[in-house]
Amino acid sequence: MRFTASAPGKLLLLGDHAVVYGHPCLVTAVDIRYRVTVEIIPGDLVEIITPELRARGAARRLPAADTGVAPLRETAFVEAAVAQMFRQYNAYTGLRIQTGGQPLSYGLGSSSAVTAAAVGALNALFALNLPLEEQFRLAYAAVLDVQGKGSGFDVAAAVFGGTLYYVRGGERLEALPVHDLPFVIGYSGAKVGTVNLVTMVEALYQRQPAIVGGMFDLLHQIVDAGKAALLAGDWQAFGDLANLNHGILDSLGVNTLSLSRLIEAARAAGAYGAKLSGAGGGDCMFAIADERAAVGAAITAAGGVVVPFVLNAPGICLEPDHEDEP
Ligand code: MEV
Repeated sequence: MRFTASAPGKLLLLGDHAVVYGHPCLVTAVDIRYRVTVEIIPGDLVEIITPELRARGAARRLPAADTGVAPLRETAFVEAAVAQMFRQYNAYTGLRIQTGGQPLSYGLGSSSAVTAAAVGALNALFALNLPLEEQFRLAYAAVLDVQGKGSGFDVAAAVFGGTLYYVRGGERLEALPVHDLPFVIGYSGAKVGTVNLVTMVEALYQRQPAIVGGMFDLLHQIVDAGKAALLAGDWQAFGDLANLNHGILDSLGVNTLSLSRLIEAARAAGAYGAKLSGAGGGDCMFAIADERAAVGAAITAAGGVVVPFVLNAPGICLEPDHEDEP
């Protein structure tokens, strides 16, 4: 029997970087979904096929007991998720695993989505009926096995979906009852690795602990005020807070010229506010606007790509089985 689960990507709304240090953030799930299909096969080999490997006519094959030990770059997150499930539930078995989804993720969290989808699919395959909190714990542990760093906000969005007020490790996880989020996402181009940017900010924090610590405290206030604005649908206030958050990220040194161009263009086209989203160094910004078409056109004219996916998307979902590839 085969099981397929999907999970969404994420857009970090407020609290970028500070969330790594125990401050809260706001995140919404983005319906750019990644799928993982799993089935038990005879023997003790785990076979993993990603779109990248399939295109080369290749597959990753390794003994079940070795999963996650020396992972391939292309399969690292899936391997780590499988290894967590094997270890936790002593469920070592031969498996065929296929992954699928948008080839270009726009930095919207394909790794966390694939990890969450793998945990969700294995949860169904092994009939574990795990609560989402436990699936989050396993998926976050898997992401840390690969990356060594990260607040897990992206994993929380992938597992639970919706829009969340989140504190590192799931210490606080509040689902916010929001509906239409009037946001436009613009992609500025590929970035340097997230871990590098987190390390860069960490080094600055070590050199300037009082000032950077103060900025993180400010981001904490911005997130709390942002939560109230989001719940009230006060987009003017949310736009102000996004601009303030962006200014701090710029001071931390993670802004880029291409992100700035898109942000300035969105503001000039009438957005309430705009900011980079996530680690910085490239990838996405978003703007808050009533006139989303005009702001989208301005982002395009400034060299960005408007990313069309729906926000506040559902978390892990089991998908109907199709005999074709995922
Ligand atoms: C990266 O998308 C967001 C950061 O806050 C890192 C993290 O929370 O893991 C920079």
